[in-house]
Amino acid sequence: MQPIFQRDRLDSLMPSMTGAVEDMLARWNDLARSNTPVDAGVEMGKLALDVITRALFGTGGAAIAEDVVKSVAVLQEYTSYLFWTLNPLAAKLPTPYHRRFLAAVAAIDAVIYRFIHERSAARAGNGAMLDELLKARDPETGCGMDEKSLRDEVVTLFLAGHETTANALTWTWYLLDRHPGIRERLESEAAALTGHPATIQDLNALPYARQVAQEAMRLYPPVWSFNRFALGPDTLGAYRIPRGTTVFIPPWVLHRHPSLWEDPERFDPERFTPARSTGRHRYAYLPFGAGPRICIGSHLALMEMQVVLALVAPRYRLRLGSDHPVSPQGLITTRPSKPIMMRLERLI
Ligand code: HEM
Repeated sequence: MQPIFQRDRLDSLMPSMTGAVEDMLARWNDLARSNTPVDAGVEMGKLALDVITRALFGTGGAAIAEDVVKSVAVLQEYTSYLFWTLNPLAAKLPTPYHRRFLAAVAAIDAVIYRFIHERSAARAGNGAMLDELLKARDPETGCGMDEKSLRDEVVTLFLAGHETTANALTWTWYLLDRHPGIRERLESEAAALTGHPATIQDLNALPYARQVAQEAMRLYPPVWSFNRFALGPDTLGAYRIPRGTTVFIPPWVLHRHPSLWEDPERFDPERFTPARSTGRHRYAYLPFGAGPRICIGSHLALMEMQVVLALVAPRYRLRLGSDHPVSPQGLITTRPSKPIMMRLERLI
């Protein structure tokens, strides 16, 4: 799948990405006028879903958004319940909770299979990622993917490709509201870019937006922890790791560790200037993991965050409705424990 994530391919996604943001901003017009607060997580969820649907399938995601956003929330809750529960039979019990999970999987599968069938039947390609996967052939056997393998790959890209980015953007708006000086600097950088960021090259004019995104993912890494399974005995510092151990690698802890970061709790995008990034330990910052299984969509995600910040920041300020404390919850991703309700303050 590497070729579909290469830079020239990502450049071709810019028009659909800016299109998805513009559609959201058009929707926000009335909400801003009537001073209706929005749930930042839901808004960013719908936006990131629209972006990944356009990239994968070549068509907008508005029609499927409600169902998918709800189903993903069920998947998150149920899988983290399985993760934390001490009941070894939990995954097998036909509880209402389990049935709700199966219904959510079926709802997402229905969406994915519909797109797979539509695109397989289409005579002409539409250049979307799914078309590339349909064309992919195993170099040794010459065979394409069977329908189940294709579903598995597509569902991974679909879920990994929007939930994480939505999450990162949600925390970014939250942090920006708490740090007006940083928000104003971001607003002026974005306002100075005449017209839209239309190509990947334009993103070079938005270094601060990139730093803001990176720093938000330091404090709120969407994947707060990932794990590895020890294939053989190993030693890690003072610890012996027996074969078969599950080892957790928690970006949440690494990113806030005082031996790795100065004043770690402070939101400070300046940490990510090239000058201040040199010399940092290569595993101090792992929002996208590391090594052979590093996130395949990291460039796409950072590009998307930059585009969203650049298009939204000069036009709207997202303001927290109240001072209620917002705390994170470690599900599969780092979700806010309660909805982050924000008012849309129109700037231009
Ligand atoms: C801010 C956004 C994102 C974050 C924070 C993120 C984070 C991660 C992390 C930490 C991993 C590694 C997990 C591990 O090592 O066990 C990963 C893997 C992966 N990500 Fe992302 N991701 C993001 C966006 C995306 C996007 C946009 C896509 C695709 C469109 C994507 C697709 C994948 C896939 C397919 C894998 C599995 C790679 C493999 O196992 O070889 N991610 N992601």
